[in-house]
Amino acid sequence: MIKSSKKYSLDDLPVFFRNKNYEELKTASSFILEKDEKNFDALNSLAVAYKNLGNTNKAVEVFTHLVNLNPKKDFIYSNAGNFFFDIGKVEQALQCHEHAVKLNSKNWNSLNQIGVIYSNKGNNEEAINYYKKALSINPKEEAIYITLANAYRALENYSEAAKYYDFSSKKLSKCQQLECYYMLGDYENFYKKLDEFSSTSSPHPLAATLSAHAAIRFDKKDNYNFCNDTFSFIQKTNLYKVNEYNESLVKDLLNCFNRLKISTKAQSLLKNGVQSTGNIFLIEEEPIQKLKKIIMRKIDVYKEKMASKKSDFITHWPKDFFLYGWLIVMSEGGSLGFHMHKEGWMSGSLYLKRPEKLDKHDGDIVFSKHGSNYPTDGKFYEQRVVDVNKGDMVLFPSSIFHGTVPFELKEQRITLAFDIIPIE
Ligand SMILES: [Fe+2]
Repeated sequence: MIKSSKKYSLDDLPVFFRNKNYEELKTASSFILEKDEKNFDALNSLAVAYKNLGNTNKAVEVFTHLVNLNPKKDFIYSNAGNFFFDIGKVEQALQCHEHAVKLNSKNWNSLNQIGVIYSNKGNNEEAINYYKKALSINPKEEAIYITLANAYRALENYSEAAKYYDFSSKKLSKCQQLECYYMLGDYENFYKKLDEFSSTSSPHPLAATLSAHAAIRFDKKDNYNFCNDTFSFIQKTNLYKVNEYNESLVKDLLNCFNRLKISTKAQSLLKNGVQSTGNIFLIEEEPIQKLKKIIMRKIDVYKEKMASKKSDFITHWPKDFFLYGWLIVMSEGGSLGFHMHKEGWMSGSLYLKRPEKLDKHDGDIVFSKHGSNYPTDGKFYEQRVVDVNKGDMVLFPSSIFHGTVPFELKEQRITLAFDIIPIE
């Protein structure tokens, strides 16, 4: 590595961080650490730089070293906690955030994140206590209103959820609020806000889902042009046809997942199964990164294939996005209820391992415009089953509901699900 001739001081670090100049943040932190190897601020900045540069292993190393030095600065534990949560190390994240709050009871970020961890475990009542504590310290923080609203939504308290989503200007929050009005049966507000959203915001998959659902339910035309002829956007390919994808890669991937012992999270729609937490693709293990490249290439091919379709889903394809992945492991009697991916733009599922079928559609994926217990008023919503075998990868717009046909075999079904998430 070429050493920088430039001299840096601690004052430079927050500037580089604010400007998202992570390369220079790394260089400046390393420069300071050469003279003062236990400088907490420089170590923290170095870890944050590694995290944002996607150098996860190095970030783990520096954050772990830093926490073991036992600094008396709460923000360090907060940063470490956020990072460990992102990579699926939930218990480590919780310890860090609890320590941060011990050092500074007004650390609203850690209070909020402890809430997120409780929500993740399915304990939204306890989570709400933490969100409210965080909000009493920082009543201007949008992120807390979002997490609080999400918890009320998960508890099906849609009026409280709608109230708190109102404090956020994010597109997803606006759509979540629309969903709350839909669930509350407040159709006046639903259509008023949907029209407002359509005319002022670029497209969002959740608005598309709601608009399509309401159109069938109320016999109306669906004016939201996200992906008309929705089912034609579902595409299946078998990855065994790709050179780099073979039995040995799958074996390495499964070994990797077993060895890493990734934390799991509560998923109310999942029966006889577990879902991993954090982003699988942040893990710097060769088989995972190899698979990520294969998936990214296939996404490019998909987009090109769909290019002629005149729909917002293709014409507004995000310029910047990242790939977020998680595992779903189901055993005998496993199934996953109909849901859509609110944070994604395009979603996919790859069947790493699946039981042989006894019945025609055991463990297959089903698509529909209906899901999430939306009210139907007895209207008919068409379903499409896509037959999936080992190695199949199915790509589809994130706005479509999908679920799994239950199966009764003793073998495991291991799916890698993923989204491309727009960076806005
Ligand atoms: Fe899904």
